[in-house]
Amino acid sequence: MAIKNIFQDAIIPEEFQINDLILQDTYLIDGELRKWHGENTVVRSAIYVNDDYSEKRILAPETIGTVPDMQAENALEALDAAVTAYDKGRGEWPLMKVEERIERIEKFALMMSKKREEVVKLLMWEIGKSYEDSCNEFDRTIEYIDDTVQDLKKMDREHSNLKLHSGVYAQIRRGPLGVVLCMGPYNYPLNETFCLLIPALICGNTTVFKPAKYGILLLSPLLEAFKECFPKGVVNLIYGRGRTLVTPIMKTGKVDVLALIGNSKTANAIQGLHPKQNRLRLVLGLEAKNAAIVLPDCDLNLAVKECVNGALAFNGQRCTALKILFVHKDIIEEFNKKFIALVSELKYGLPWKKGVNLTPLPEPNKPTYIKELIDDATSKGAKIINENGGETIESFVFPAVLYPTDTSMRVFHEEQFGPIVPITSFTDINEPLDYISESNYGQQASLFSNNSDTLAPLIDMLVNQVCRVNINSKCQRGPDVFPFVGRKDSAVSTLSVHDAIRSFSIRTLVAFKDGKLNKGVLNDLLDNPNSNFVSTHYIL
Ligand code: G3H
Repeated sequence: MAIKNIFQDAIIPEEFQINDLILQDTYLIDGELRKWHGENTVVRSAIYVNDDYSEKRILAPETIGTVPDMQAENALEALDAAVTAYDKGRGEWPLMKVEERIERIEKFALMMSKKREEVVKLLMWEIGKSYEDSCNEFDRTIEYIDDTVQDLKKMDREHSNLKLHSGVYAQIRRGPLGVVLCMGPYNYPLNETFCLLIPALICGNTTVFKPAKYGILLLSPLLEAFKECFPKGVVNLIYGRGRTLVTPIMKTGKVDVLALIGNSKTANAIQGLHPKQNRLRLVLGLEAKNAAIVLPDCDLNLAVKECVNGALAFNGQRCTALKILFVHKDIIEEFNKKFIALVSELKYGLPWKKGVNLTPLPEPNKPTYIKELIDDATSKGAKIINENGGETIESFVFPAVLYPTDTSMRVFHEEQFGPIVPITSFTDINEPLDYISESNYGQQASLFSNNSDTLAPLIDMLVNQVCRVNINSKCQRGPDVFPFVGRKDSAVSTLSVHDAIRSFSIRTLVAFKDGKLNKGVLNDLLDNPNSNFVSTHYIL
């Protein structure tokens, strides 16, 4: 039986309806929400709906609003505002006491919390994320901000004492880096963007911030909070095409940190535009092709459950998704049977459907790309082993489980970032291990086995190839306090609550040779509150 058309006859609960177009006609530069008078770009939803929620059953991608189509000169204005606000480290924000910066961030988080409903609704419409996952994305972001504040306070307390070594006193702290160009991905347009932006800001940097490709309007409810909480020029938000805006900005050489969650091709192209690349710090979260290795001595039901969830949560649109499954030959038949049974139980529908797992895809060209991967694999011997696999209705694609797959197929190597699961069987453990070591990516892997003797050598080998080995569970980023990083083309710098603060700052110190004169100067500095840097003050 074919899959049901999830768009036809869709009833949109009142609380999730968007009755008026969201016309984002302002942009934030230099602390002002400036009116935009130029061309606009239409923001379309991942969801196709009846054209007026009425009885007419016309399928059309829903237009939910517009955003400014800003140009090179606007991008440079934003950059100038950020450069001026940083003012070579002499600006209000980089000089501000850490305590005061924290207060601003806390105020921002408070104002943001009040916009939860609006932001969640837009996450659902713009990227097709389920209500539950959209709420999680929002709440996780607030928690990330709170944890960042706590971590920074702890770090500041640790730095609030003097070191004495070899006759030299030193106060060692971390200082900001300068201007950060910040860009997040469309699959976590709020969370992952803010996981860059918030640590960058709290460390005293100033920012130019370009929203992701999809998931743009969800920032509109937060613009006032950005304007109110930060000094002018500290947060500059620009809308438009990446190439148009980012190219002129990078070519000036005035960006100190490129903070991007996206793919390595884009990252390479952008960093290559900077005239002095040695001055550019990179904080990059990039693509991955995380593999699961399912061994014969595993708990099969658990392995299947984790692999389905790991491969298909948010339709496989997670950088951490399991993008290839290596299953031992002895259990492959049983595994595949249980795997496709579980896939067939996944709920599909529109984001507001309770418990929904599979939803429409925001990238207009993704269904075509998935079909290309399927056609390529099936022409080389793979089969779609699940019922309805690959069936497509507009922006919705039912997951295709492909078996057997091999190295001749594109899906074996390309990061599909969508609902398609390649499975391959192995007899020699070196097959999956070699796959992982030869891959261009090195983010995470999952191992499924109950036996510590089986696991131990694999763990020890894999930790030197990837940056997180998950035992009997899917790959994932969280909890966000754990290091999130990758080797090869998967990342540069570590992101976690703790590490991001370090990625967006640099160690800098004030040193005093021991002696009568300097002791006097140092005591005076510590006794009065004139310097924010040389201080033994404790943030509580
Ligand atoms: O897209 C990549 C995300 O960082 C994945 O995060 O593992 O929590 O879904 P997650």
